[in-house]
Amino acid sequence: MNKEEPVSLFDFVESEGSKNRKENKTESLLLGTLKKRIDPLSWILDPHLPKENFELFEDVGQIYELQLAKMEYETFKHNLELFRKRTAYFKIVNGEKSYHYFISKVKGKGQIGHTNQYLTHWFYPYKGKFHGQMIKAIINFIGAYEDDIVLDPFMGSGTTLIEATTIGTKSMGIEINPALCIVSQIKLDSLRINYPEFKKAITKMHLSKIFTYFNEAKKYLQERIWAIEAENQDARNILDELWENHFPNSFVKDYPFEWRNLLLLIYLHALSDYTYLKGTSKERSFKEFFYINFDEYSQTLKGTYETFKKLDITPKEYKVILGSALNLPLPSESIKGVVTSPPYSIALDYVKNDLHLLNYLGINTKKLRKEMVGLKGRKMEKLRLYEEDIRRSVEEMYRVLKKDGWAAIVLGDVVVNGKRTDFCKKIIEWAPEIGFVDAYPMKRPILGGFARLRYEYVLFLQK
Ligand SMILES: C[S@@+](CC[C@H](N)C(=O)[O-])C[C@H]1O[C@@H](n2cnc3c(N)ncnc32)[C@H](O)[C@@H]1O
Repeated sequence: MNKEEPVSLFDFVESEGSKNRKENKTESLLLGTLKKRIDPLSWILDPHLPKENFELFEDVGQIYELQLAKMEYETFKHNLELFRKRTAYFKIVNGEKSYHYFISKVKGKGQIGHTNQYLTHWFYPYKGKFHGQMIKAIINFIGAYEDDIVLDPFMGSGTTLIEATTIGTKSMGIEINPALCIVSQIKLDSLRINYPEFKKAITKMHLSKIFTYFNEAKKYLQERIWAIEAENQDARNILDELWENHFPNSFVKDYPFEWRNLLLLIYLHALSDYTYLKGTSKERSFKEFFYINFDEYSQTLKGTYETFKKLDITPKEYKVILGSALNLPLPSESIKGVVTSPPYSIALDYVKNDLHLLNYLGINTKKLRKEMVGLKGRKMEKLRLYEEDIRRSVEEMYRVLKKDGWAAIVLGDVVVNGKRTDFCKKIIEWAPEIGFVDAYPMKRPILGGFARLRYEYVLFLQK
């Protein structure tokens, strides 16, 4: 056997066909019939489009991802340039790289492929946030354009708003936990920071003093345990009030609003790392975490600034409101789409998870517990109260949605005292009573060995 020629399957199983093929090496050997029949792109795209000019991201592998890719394509198929700017699941559109390709290159801690933690999504390690890429595709499907508003009534750490503002859609988030309102507001504002100016003004030289400043400010914040008296406050005003009345005077206070807020968030992130990594192989001193995070946050600011400049992205307006999903501070029929995820791991204690953060900011946790969906009551009463609240929140979503608008609710089974309840099914039963005209539960597997639930749903409801 000639050493240069590798053994092929045709050499191994010699047949008439293979002999002929060997003789006609220049001719294409393949018909491509199977590809045509089963290629996901052929299912997603219209038949007239040249498939070689389109490509999904290499890590798109789940059925729900293909469904969402099709759904977002259906919205934008008549404007492929806009599709290229907004798509979440396509790497190449019409022969050119999509915006998401560049955006998801602004890497963050714990990022998986193109799905999550890019841009400022990773700022502050909030457990239980959803994946930015999926949310972007859902907003695309809803067809929310510039002045339409996308609402997240259980905002958490602001994923929906970050995606909406980046693709140029107005957004609003409602959240009962003031600490998360602050975190989300800062993550969003950080998308607009002019990195070269920030870098010039704040260097490693200042870090030690900044760290000491926030360490000492703690006692001033805790002098007054704020309760969540006034509902429906804008998070910007909460932060303003915090700086004005609680943080002591210093050079830190003279930095622009967005910068000193970002420094506060870096400090809070370090506090969380310090709390959770104590006693593990990743343990460091609080100050070391602050230094490391400052470097990593700076990388993200730089990447975001440069990418937005290159793509000519100006974040669209957003509003973060301290309020309740059970009583939305919005007029009826004012919202184009809802993209949200209520608390459903109600066995988990969200307040306990973020106690270090709540304590630092001096937030009254007793009051918070009474207001939070999923934390009210005990044992079976807990499940009943949860059901009442979820129903009420879905009714509120319906009320504020415009006609034909969609609500997309991400949720899984709720387990209380070992009893599993399928709330997706329950909401589908309620949907016609509430007034919705269509419902579709999209199943999404949760990968990873430690996941308590094997899958969750993205439930689509249309008004
Ligand atoms: C599953 S988390 C949302 C996470 C979010 N999707 C993200 O990506 O960060 C649910 C959120 O609902 C909030 N919440 C609980 N009760 C609420 C209420 N009555 N009104 C508004 N938000 C509430 C919780 O504080 C929690 O942040």
